[in-house]
Amino acid sequence: MPTTDTDALIAAAEAALRAPSIFNTQPWHWRVAGNALELSADPQRQLPVVDPDHRMTTLSCGIALHHARTALAAEGRTTEVDRLPDPARPGLLARIRVAGRQPVTPADIRRYESTLIRHTDRRLFTDRRVPAEAVDGLRRAAEGEGAHLFLVRPEDTPVLASAVSQAQATQLADPAYRAELARWTHPAEAGGSGVPIDTATPPTSRTVPVREFGIEGTGVLAPGEGHDETAVYAVLAGDGDSPRDWLRAGEALSAVLLTAVSEDLAVSPMSDVIEVAATRLRLGRMLSGIGYPFLVLRVGVAEPATRVPATPRRDPAEVIEVSS
Ligand SMILES: Cc1cc2nc3c(=O)[nH]c(=O)nc-3n(C[C@H](O)[C@H](O)[C@H](O)COP(=O)(O)O)c2cc1C
Repeated sequence: MPTTDTDALIAAAEAALRAPSIFNTQPWHWRVAGNALELSADPQRQLPVVDPDHRMTTLSCGIALHHARTALAAEGRTTEVDRLPDPARPGLLARIRVAGRQPVTPADIRRYESTLIRHTDRRLFTDRRVPAEAVDGLRRAAEGEGAHLFLVRPEDTPVLASAVSQAQATQLADPAYRAELARWTHPAEAGGSGVPIDTATPPTSRTVPVREFGIEGTGVLAPGEGHDETAVYAVLAGDGDSPRDWLRAGEALSAVLLTAVSEDLAVSPMSDVIEVAATRLRLGRMLSGIGYPFLVLRVGVAEPATRVPATPRRDPAEVIEVSS
């Protein structure tokens, strides 16, 4: 239990290490200085082929920012957040300051506890449907953090499937993409970052295909039965397409993912269709031009009896710097 504000900030940075990120790159660095916590992008962990604009890495850092805010709220701290506070340092994404104290609510605790159990589930979903009111809850969570979550209408699912297939074919035809994917895909036992192959499913027939990890798509996680017919697809979108919008969208995504945990829903992010410019534009047209699409989410009810192996995280000592 942290006692000082500095202890609470260190604990918040540690909690934020659990945030999901593109290819599990964990592309962030935290610096604790007095009563402030600074979040920077780690230039060594960018993805030059998949993410040359840094849209996905900034979004991932936004998720970490929201995880840190969530941990501080669960410690009874109110915070002030400055996003992109220094134009001379574009890599400095946010500065969080402890502003005061407030009573901890059950919702604060629930949200924090959700960070401990959330994980990406790439398996086919069960035949149980996603309740409409749960989707409304996810949408409100995104709006509360300044982004939008648009549900893909059933009649638009074939358009989404076609755009995703186009993106995957484009990427797989590029040797540089295949090399970058291979660099961040690992056997189960390796390292503290990257996607372990035992969290990815082998190729299987799906309404909308998911990204294949590993050499020739050799994911080893049993995918389950069916074709993903109950999956609901949603597009996370913003009003602008700037680093600030990506950061806010990351915070919104974290809020959506943590809300999904409390609704017993599984979520699997899909970014390949966004990474390829042509299909990102197709998706924007599918949304009739209302907002810039940043990520597709596959939402459903997962098989509760079996669990997906945990994806590892980096050593906190590598990621968190405490300045006196
Ligand atoms: C911005 C972003 C994009 C992602 N894109 C994909 C994707 O295209 N396909 C996929 O299977 N997982 C995707 N993921 C999920 C990550 O691979 C996953 O979060 C990471 O490996 C950590 O695992 P965890 O979520 O189980 O903690 C994405 C995650 C984020 C945050």
